Amino acid sequence: MTDTTTSSRTAMIEVIKVSKSYPPNVTALADISVSIASGEIFFLIGRSGAGKTTLLKLLCNMERPSNGLIEVAGMNIHQVTGNKLAKLRQKVGVAYQDFRLLTDRTVAENIAISMEVSYKKPQIIRSRVRNLLAQLQLEDKHDILTGDLSRGEQQRVALARAVANSPTLILVDEPTGNLDATSTTQVMELLTRCSNSGATIVIATHDETLYRHSTHRVMKLHNGELASLTRGDEV
Ligand SMILES: Nc1ncnc2c1ncn2[C@@H]1O[C@H](COP(=O)(O)OP(=O)(O)OP(=O)(O)O)[C@@H](O)[C@H]1O
Ligand SMILES: [Mg+2]
Repeated sequence: MTDTTTSSRTAMIEVIKVSKSYPPNVTALADISVSIASGEIFFLIGRSGAGKTTLLKLLCNMERPSNGLIEVAGMNIHQVTGNKLAKLRQKVGVAYQDFRLLTDRTVAENIAISMEVSYKKPQIIRSRVRNLLAQLQLEDKHDILTGDLSRGEQQRVALARAVANSPTLILVDEPTGNLDATSTTQVMELLTRCSNSGATIVIATHDETLYRHSTHRVMKLHNGELASLTRGDEV
């Protein structure tokens, strides 16, 4: 049997007995523990409301756990402050379920943001933006305002922005919800390239085609609880 509970590689993420409640009485996550290895592609599945987005929000420090502990790259992310926190933030790229693009800015400006924050040279930024747009077949959208794009195009721009600065941890929430099969394949190819370069990737999804025939681990949540943790080809 495959050992899906532990990994011999170094852990990038340690989730230890984490719960998250929202007032007045919503238990979004209950007593979740999991270790995700550096370089791993890890899927989060479960019905709508199961707690997938909540877990991603905890992993990127957008929300604090009600109980338990989360370590990313060996640091308790809810305790680091100042410079360390700023550095940690630069190492994490997030593609949100609701995209959160700056809709009055162009595609290129949106994708460039994380690289500008970390003072990359303009020439490097320009070439990375063009390269990402080519990988996602969005070359012709470079100068379009993201507010004028289709949902599927916005979704891919959100992904390009998340990976642009080559973060070591990439969190993607429902990355293919609005995409056709070809675009879905391009998105997964891009994420696989990021993984091959060493990034750890956590993907929340309802799309079985992303993991069904893979050996990647898949964690299923049900009403905030861990329902199962198996390989994609065993789900
Ligand atoms: N800020 C909040 N206040 C109150 N309840 C919340 C809040 N955020 C999430 N919840 C609740 O927590 C539960 C988990 O929500 P979450 O968004 O994590 O689900 P999900 O698995 O991502 O669902 P979906 O597949 O629809 O995106 C849901 O019952 C949701 O209503
Ligand atoms: Mg969600």
